[in-house]
Amino acid sequence: MKKIQDAVLENKKVLVRADFNVGIVDGVVQEKFKLNACKETVDHVLSQEGAKVALCSHLGRPEGKKNDSFSLSQLVGDLESILERKVVFAFDCIGEDVASALDNLGEGEVLLLENVRFHGGEEKNDEDFSEKLSANFDAFVNEAFSVCHRDQSSVTGVTKFLPSYAGFWLQKEIENLNKVLENPKRPATAIIGGAKIETKLPLIKKFEQIYDHILVGGKIANEALDQKLEFSDKVILPWDFEGDRLDIGEESAEKFKDIILSSGTVVWNGPLGKFEEAPYDRATREVLGVVAESGAYSLVGGGESVQALEENGLMDKISFVSTGGGAMLEYLSGNEMPGIKALS
Ligand code: 3PG
Repeated sequence: MKKIQDAVLENKKVLVRADFNVGIVDGVVQEKFKLNACKETVDHVLSQEGAKVALCSHLGRPEGKKNDSFSLSQLVGDLESILERKVVFAFDCIGEDVASALDNLGEGEVLLLENVRFHGGEEKNDEDFSEKLSANFDAFVNEAFSVCHRDQSSVTGVTKFLPSYAGFWLQKEIENLNKVLENPKRPATAIIGGAKIETKLPLIKKFEQIYDHILVGGKIANEALDQKLEFSDKVILPWDFEGDRLDIGEESAEKFKDIILSSGTVVWNGPLGKFEEAPYDRATREVLGVVAESGAYSLVGGGESVQALEENGLMDKISFVSTGGGAMLEYLSGNEMPGIKALS
Protein backbone atom coordinates (compact mmCIF):
# COMPACT_ATOMS: atom_id res chain seq x y z
CA MET A 1 0.00 0.00 0.00
CA LYS A 2 1.33 3.43 -0.93
CA LYS A 3 1.43 5.69 2.11
CA ILE A 4 0.94 9.45 2.40
CA GLN A 5 4.31 9.85 4.18
CA ASP A 6 6.04 8.59 1.01
CA ALA A 7 4.30 11.08 -1.29
CA VAL A 8 5.86 14.33 -2.52
CA LEU A 9 3.01 16.80 -2.24
CA GLU A 10 4.67 20.22 -2.62
CA ASN A 11 2.58 22.48 -4.85
CA LYS A 12 0.08 19.66 -5.38
CA LYS A 13 -3.70 19.87 -5.19
CA VAL A 14 -4.71 16.92 -3.03
CA LEU A 15 -8.13 15.28 -2.89
CA VAL A 16 -8.69 13.60 0.50
CA ARG A 17 -11.52 11.05 0.79
CA ALA A 18 -12.86 11.32 4.34
CA ASP A 19 -15.85 9.56 5.87
CA PHE A 20 -18.23 12.25 7.07
CA ASN A 21 -21.21 9.90 7.01
CA VAL A 22 -22.41 10.95 10.46
CA GLY A 23 -25.77 11.12 12.17
CA ILE A 24 -27.15 14.67 12.36
CA VAL A 25 -30.03 15.25 14.79
CA ASP A 26 -31.66 18.71 14.79
CA GLY A 27 -28.59 20.08 13.06
CA VAL A 28 -26.23 18.60 15.68
CA VAL A 29 -23.50 16.23 14.45
CA GLN A 30 -23.53 13.01 16.50
CA GLU A 31 -20.16 11.38 15.77
CA LYS A 32 -17.53 14.12 15.91
CA PHE A 33 -14.91 11.39 16.24
CA LYS A 34 -15.37 10.56 12.54
CA LEU A 35 -14.63 14.18 11.56
CA ASN A 36 -11.44 14.15 13.59
CA ALA A 37 -10.01 11.12 11.75
CA CYS A 38 -8.71 13.22 8.80
CA LYS A 39 -6.94 15.88 10.89
CA GLU A 40 -3.43 14.44 10.85
CA THR A 41 -3.55 13.98 7.08
CA VAL A 42 -4.88 17.52 6.47
CA ASP A 43 -2.14 18.98 8.69
CA HIS A 44 0.51 16.91 6.94
CA VAL A 45 -0.55 17.92 3.42
CA LEU A 46 -0.81 21.59 4.36
CA SER A 47 2.66 21.51 5.91
CA GLN A 48 4.05 20.91 2.39
CA GLU A 49 5.02 24.08 0.50
CA GLY A 50 2.21 25.28 -1.79
CA ALA A 51 -0.02 22.20 -1.26
CA LYS A 52 -3.81 22.53 -1.22
CA VAL A 53 -6.44 20.19 0.26
CA ALA A 54 -10.02 19.42 -0.65
CA LEU A 55 -12.05 17.00 1.47
CA CYS A 56 -14.72 14.85 -0.14
CA SER A 57 -17.21 12.41 1.37
CA HIS A 58 -20.68 10.97 1.13
CA LEU A 59 -23.41 11.57 3.68
CA GLY A 60 -26.38 9.20 3.79
CA ARG A 61 -27.94 7.63 0.74
CA PRO A 62 -29.41 10.47 -1.37
CA GLU A 63 -29.58 8.16 -4.41
CA GLY A 64 -27.84 10.40 -6.92
CA LYS A 65 -29.98 13.47 -6.26
CA LYS A 66 -29.24 16.77 -4.57
CA ASN A 67 -30.96 16.84 -1.18
CA ASP A 68 -30.36 19.55 1.45
CA SER A 69 -30.77 17.17 4.37
CA PHE A 70 -27.69 15.29 3.13
CA SER A 71 -25.62 18.39 2.35
CA LEU A 72 -22.11 18.39 3.76
CA SER A 73 -22.47 22.16 4.29
CA GLN A 74 -23.97 21.17 7.67
CA LEU A 75 -20.50 20.08 8.82
CA VAL A 76 -18.59 23.29 8.11
CA GLY A 77 -18.80 24.69 11.68
CA ASP A 78 -17.74 21.44 13.39
CA LEU A 79 -14.97 20.84 10.88
CA GLU A 80 -13.61 24.34 11.41
CA SER A 81 -13.33 23.79 15.15
CA ILE A 82 -11.92 20.25 14.84
CA LEU A 83 -9.39 21.07 12.10
CA GLU A 84 -8.69 24.52 13.59
CA ARG A 85 -8.75 25.94 10.07
CA LYS A 86 -11.06 27.96 7.87
CA VAL A 87 -13.24 25.60 5.82
CA VAL A 88 -14.54 26.90 2.49
CA PHE A 89 -17.57 25.04 1.10
CA ALA A 90 -17.96 24.16 -2.60
CA PHE A 91 -21.53 23.55 -3.76
CA ASP A 92 -20.48 20.65 -5.98
CA CYS A 93 -17.63 18.12 -5.97
CA ILE A 94 -16.75 18.40 -9.68
CA GLY A 95 -16.38 21.13 -12.29
CA GLU A 96 -15.07 24.64 -12.80
CA ASP A 97 -16.36 26.01 -9.49
CA VAL A 98 -14.19 23.51 -7.62
CA ALA A 99 -11.19 24.55 -9.75
CA SER A 100 -11.64 28.25 -8.97
CA ALA A 101 -12.39 27.60 -5.27
CA LEU A 102 -9.11 25.68 -5.08
CA ASP A 103 -7.23 28.54 -6.79
CA ASN A 104 -8.74 31.05 -4.37
CA LEU A 105 -8.03 29.06 -1.19
CA GLY A 106 -5.97 31.04 1.31
CA GLU A 107 -2.94 29.57 3.04
CA GLY A 108 -3.91 26.93 5.58
CA GLU A 109 -7.53 26.84 4.43
CA VAL A 110 -9.41 23.66 3.50
CA LEU A 111 -12.00 23.16 0.77
CA LEU A 112 -14.98 20.93 1.62
CA LEU A 113 -16.71 19.49 -1.46
CA GLU A 114 -20.44 18.76 -1.59
CA ASN A 115 -21.71 15.18 -1.08
CA VAL A 116 -20.31 12.90 -3.79
CA ARG A 117 -23.52 10.82 -3.70
CA PHE A 118 -25.48 13.76 -5.17
CA HIS A 119 -24.11 12.32 -8.44
CA GLY A 120 -25.49 8.95 -9.55
CA GLY A 121 -22.06 8.05 -10.95
CA GLU A 122 -20.50 7.81 -7.47
CA GLU A 123 -22.16 4.60 -6.30
CA LYS A 124 -21.99 3.09 -9.80
CA ASN A 125 -18.26 3.79 -9.87
CA ASP A 126 -18.86 5.41 -13.24
CA GLU A 127 -15.57 6.06 -15.04
CA ASP A 128 -16.68 9.40 -16.44
CA PHE A 129 -17.66 10.64 -12.97
CA SER A 130 -14.39 9.34 -11.47
CA GLU A 131 -12.46 11.25 -14.11
CA LYS A 132 -14.41 14.46 -13.41
CA LEU A 133 -13.86 14.06 -9.66
CA SER A 134 -10.12 13.63 -10.26
CA ALA A 135 -9.77 16.39 -12.85
CA ASN A 136 -9.08 19.26 -10.44
CA PHE A 137 -6.37 17.40 -8.51
CA ASP A 138 -2.82 16.03 -8.69
CA ALA A 139 -3.01 13.38 -5.95
CA PHE A 140 -5.54 11.36 -3.95
CA VAL A 141 -5.42 10.31 -0.29
CA ASN A 142 -7.85 7.76 1.08
CA GLU A 143 -8.54 8.52 4.73
CA ALA A 144 -11.88 6.72 4.90
CA PHE A 145 -11.31 3.17 6.18
CA SER A 146 -15.02 2.91 6.94
CA VAL A 147 -15.89 3.18 3.22
CA CYS A 148 -13.13 0.89 1.90
CA HIS A 149 -15.63 -1.97 1.48
CA ARG A 150 -17.39 0.13 -1.19
CA ASP A 151 -16.24 -0.03 -4.82
CA GLN A 152 -17.26 3.53 -5.65
CA SER A 153 -15.81 6.47 -7.58
CA SER A 154 -14.46 8.45 -4.62
CA VAL A 155 -12.95 5.28 -3.07
CA THR A 156 -11.56 3.25 -5.98
CA GLY A 157 -12.53 5.01 -9.26
CA VAL A 158 -10.30 8.06 -8.73
CA THR A 159 -7.23 5.87 -8.08
CA LYS A 160 -7.19 5.11 -11.84
CA PHE A 161 -6.61 8.79 -12.56
CA LEU A 162 -4.47 10.06 -9.67
CA PRO A 163 -1.40 8.86 -7.76
CA SER A 164 -3.09 7.52 -4.63
CA TYR A 165 -2.00 7.02 -1.03
CA ALA A 166 -3.31 5.72 2.30
CA GLY A 167 -3.80 8.46 4.88
CA PHE A 168 -2.54 8.19 8.47
CA TRP A 169 -5.90 7.17 9.95
CA LEU A 170 -6.47 4.48 7.35
CA GLN A 171 -3.03 3.07 8.18
CA LYS A 172 -3.84 3.09 11.90
CA GLU A 173 -7.10 1.22 11.32
CA ILE A 174 -5.29 -1.51 9.38
CA GLU A 175 -2.46 -1.79 11.93
CA ASN A 176 -4.85 -2.15 14.86
CA LEU A 177 -7.17 -4.59 13.09
CA ASN A 178 -4.18 -6.69 12.04
CA LYS A 179 -2.94 -6.68 15.62
CA VAL A 180 -6.16 -8.21 17.01
CA LEU A 181 -6.28 -10.72 14.18
CA GLU A 182 -2.66 -11.84 14.17
CA ASN A 183 -1.30 -11.41 17.64
CA PRO A 184 -4.02 -11.01 20.27
CA LYS A 185 -3.07 -11.07 23.93
CA ARG A 186 -4.79 -14.13 25.48
CA PRO A 187 -7.43 -14.92 26.49
CA ALA A 188 -8.96 -13.17 23.49
CA THR A 189 -12.66 -12.33 23.43
CA ALA A 190 -14.87 -11.10 20.59
CA ILE A 191 -18.24 -9.49 21.28
CA ILE A 192 -20.51 -9.58 18.28
CA GLY A 193 -23.96 -8.02 18.23
CA GLY A 194 -26.30 -6.09 15.98
CA ALA A 195 -28.59 -7.39 13.26
CA LYS A 196 -28.46 -9.74 10.25
CA ILE A 197 -27.02 -13.09 11.26
CA GLU A 198 -26.15 -13.86 7.62
CA THR A 199 -23.65 -10.97 7.57
CA LYS A 200 -22.25 -11.70 11.06
CA LEU A 201 -22.02 -15.49 10.86
CA PRO A 202 -18.72 -15.48 8.88
CA LEU A 203 -17.23 -13.29 11.63
CA ILE A 204 -18.44 -15.60 14.41
CA LYS A 205 -16.97 -18.58 12.52
CA LYS A 206 -13.68 -16.77 11.95
CA PHE A 207 -13.32 -15.83 15.63
CA GLU A 208 -14.27 -19.38 16.65
CA GLN A 209 -11.03 -20.45 14.97
CA ILE A 210 -8.71 -17.77 16.34
CA TYR A 211 -10.21 -16.53 19.68
CA ASP A 212 -11.01 -18.07 23.06
CA HIS A 213 -14.49 -16.61 23.67
CA ILE A 214 -17.17 -15.23 21.37
CA LEU A 215 -19.99 -13.43 23.17
CA VAL A 216 -23.05 -12.94 20.98
CA GLY A 217 -25.87 -10.47 21.64
CA GLY A 218 -28.36 -8.28 19.79
CA LYS A 219 -30.80 -9.42 17.15
CA ILE A 220 -28.28 -11.91 15.77
CA ALA A 221 -28.37 -13.85 19.05
CA ASN A 222 -32.16 -14.21 18.70
CA GLU A 223 -31.75 -15.27 15.09
CA ALA A 224 -29.07 -17.83 16.01
CA LEU A 225 -31.32 -19.26 18.76
CA ASP A 226 -34.39 -19.34 16.48
CA GLN A 227 -32.45 -21.05 13.70
CA LYS A 228 -30.91 -23.47 16.24
CA LEU A 229 -27.45 -22.72 14.86
CA GLU A 230 -24.72 -24.86 16.38
CA PHE A 231 -21.41 -23.52 17.62
CA SER A 232 -18.48 -24.76 19.66
CA ASP A 233 -18.33 -24.10 23.44
CA LYS A 234 -16.37 -20.94 22.75
CA VAL A 235 -19.53 -19.21 21.54
CA ILE A 236 -21.82 -17.96 24.30
CA LEU A 237 -25.37 -16.96 23.41
CA PRO A 238 -27.52 -15.13 25.99
CA TRP A 239 -30.04 -17.22 27.91
CA ASP A 240 -32.06 -14.53 29.65
CA PHE A 241 -33.52 -11.36 28.17
CA GLU A 242 -35.20 -8.00 28.83
CA GLY A 243 -38.53 -7.17 27.19
CA ASP A 244 -39.44 -9.21 24.15
CA ARG A 245 -35.81 -10.31 23.67
CA LEU A 246 -34.88 -6.64 23.09
CA ASP A 247 -31.78 -6.75 25.30
CA ILE A 248 -29.73 -9.48 26.91
CA GLY A 249 -30.72 -10.19 30.52
CA GLU A 250 -28.77 -9.50 33.70
CA GLU A 251 -27.42 -13.03 34.17
CA SER A 252 -26.05 -13.19 30.64
CA ALA A 253 -24.59 -9.69 30.99
CA GLU A 254 -22.85 -10.73 34.25
CA LYS A 255 -21.33 -13.76 32.53
CA PHE A 256 -20.13 -11.54 29.65
CA LYS A 257 -18.57 -9.10 32.15
CA ASP A 258 -16.72 -11.91 34.02
CA ILE A 259 -15.20 -13.19 30.78
CA ILE A 260 -14.17 -9.66 29.72
CA LEU A 261 -12.50 -9.00 33.07
CA SER A 262 -10.20 -11.98 32.61
CA SER A 263 -9.43 -11.22 28.92
CA GLY A 264 -6.20 -9.86 27.45
CA THR A 265 -7.92 -8.70 24.25
CA VAL A 266 -11.50 -7.62 23.58
CA VAL A 267 -12.85 -6.86 20.09
CA TRP A 268 -16.40 -5.52 19.78
CA ASN A 269 -18.73 -4.90 16.84
CA GLY A 270 -22.48 -4.28 17.18
CA PRO A 271 -24.85 -3.53 20.10
CA LEU A 272 -26.13 -6.23 22.51
CA GLY A 273 -29.74 -4.98 22.45
CA LYS A 274 -32.11 -2.57 20.71
CA PHE A 275 -29.76 0.26 21.55
CA GLU A 276 -31.83 3.11 20.12
CA GLU A 277 -34.74 2.33 22.49
CA ALA A 278 -34.05 2.81 26.21
CA PRO A 279 -33.90 0.81 28.45
CA TYR A 280 -32.72 -1.77 25.89
CA ASP A 281 -29.38 0.05 25.59
CA ARG A 282 -28.53 -0.98 29.17
CA ALA A 283 -26.43 -4.11 28.56
CA THR A 284 -24.45 -2.45 25.73
CA ARG A 285 -23.60 0.55 27.92
CA GLU A 286 -22.80 -1.53 31.03
CA VAL A 287 -20.66 -4.10 29.24
CA LEU A 288 -18.83 -1.34 27.32
CA GLY A 289 -18.06 0.29 30.66
CA VAL A 290 -16.50 -2.98 31.84
CA VAL A 291 -14.45 -3.27 28.62
CA ALA A 292 -13.18 0.28 29.18
CA GLU A 293 -12.09 -0.49 32.76
CA SER A 294 -10.84 -4.03 32.11
CA GLY A 295 -7.23 -3.24 31.24
CA ALA A 296 -7.49 -5.54 28.18
CA TYR A 297 -6.32 -4.35 24.77
CA SER A 298 -9.69 -3.23 23.40
CA LEU A 299 -10.85 -2.48 19.87
CA VAL A 300 -14.40 -1.24 19.39
CA GLY A 301 -16.26 -0.23 16.21
CA GLY A 302 -19.76 0.33 14.90
CA GLY A 303 -22.01 3.41 15.19
CA GLU A 304 -23.95 2.52 18.36
CA SER A 305 -20.93 1.35 20.35
CA VAL A 306 -19.01 4.50 19.43
CA GLN A 307 -22.04 6.65 20.30
CA ALA A 308 -22.26 4.98 23.73
CA LEU A 309 -18.51 5.51 24.28
CA GLU A 310 -18.75 9.19 23.33
CA GLU A 311 -21.81 9.78 25.51
CA ASN A 312 -20.21 8.12 28.53
CA GLY A 313 -16.83 9.81 28.10
CA LEU A 314 -15.10 6.46 27.54
CA MET A 315 -13.40 7.08 24.18
CA ASP A 316 -9.98 7.52 25.78
CA LYS A 317 -10.30 4.26 27.70
CA ILE A 318 -10.54 2.07 24.61
CA SER A 319 -7.20 1.11 23.04
CA PHE A 320 -8.47 1.72 19.51
CA VAL A 321 -11.88 2.94 18.35
CA SER A 322 -12.52 2.03 14.72
CA THR A 323 -14.53 4.35 12.45
CA GLY A 324 -15.72 1.24 10.61
CA GLY A 325 -19.01 -0.52 11.20
CA GLY A 326 -19.60 -2.59 8.07
CA ALA A 327 -15.99 -2.06 6.97
CA MET A 328 -14.60 -3.41 10.27
CA LEU A 329 -16.81 -6.46 9.89
CA GLU A 330 -15.59 -7.08 6.35
CA TYR A 331 -11.93 -6.62 7.27
CA LEU A 332 -12.08 -8.88 10.32
CA SER A 333 -13.96 -11.51 8.31
CA GLY A 334 -11.01 -11.60 5.90
CA ASN A 335 -12.89 -10.21 2.91
CA GLU A 336 -11.03 -8.17 0.32
CA MET A 337 -11.58 -4.42 0.64
CA PRO A 338 -11.68 -2.70 -2.77
CA GLY A 339 -10.60 0.67 -1.31
CA ILE A 340 -7.44 -0.83 0.22
CA LYS A 341 -6.64 -2.99 -2.81
CA ALA A 342 -6.83 0.08 -5.05
CA LEU A 343 -3.93 1.66 -3.10
CA SER A 344 -1.50 -1.18 -3.80
C1 3PG B 1 -20.48 3.95 7.25
O1 3PG B 1 -20.99 4.89 7.85
O2 3PG B 1 -20.41 2.79 7.73
C2 3PG B 1 -19.80 4.22 5.94
O3 3PG B 1 -19.77 5.58 5.70
C3 3PG B 1 -20.48 3.48 4.81
O4 3PG B 1 -21.71 4.03 4.47
P1 3PG B 1 -22.67 3.27 3.44
O5 3PG B 1 -23.10 2.01 4.14
O6 3PG B 1 -23.82 4.22 3.17
O7 3PG B 1 -21.89 2.97 2.21
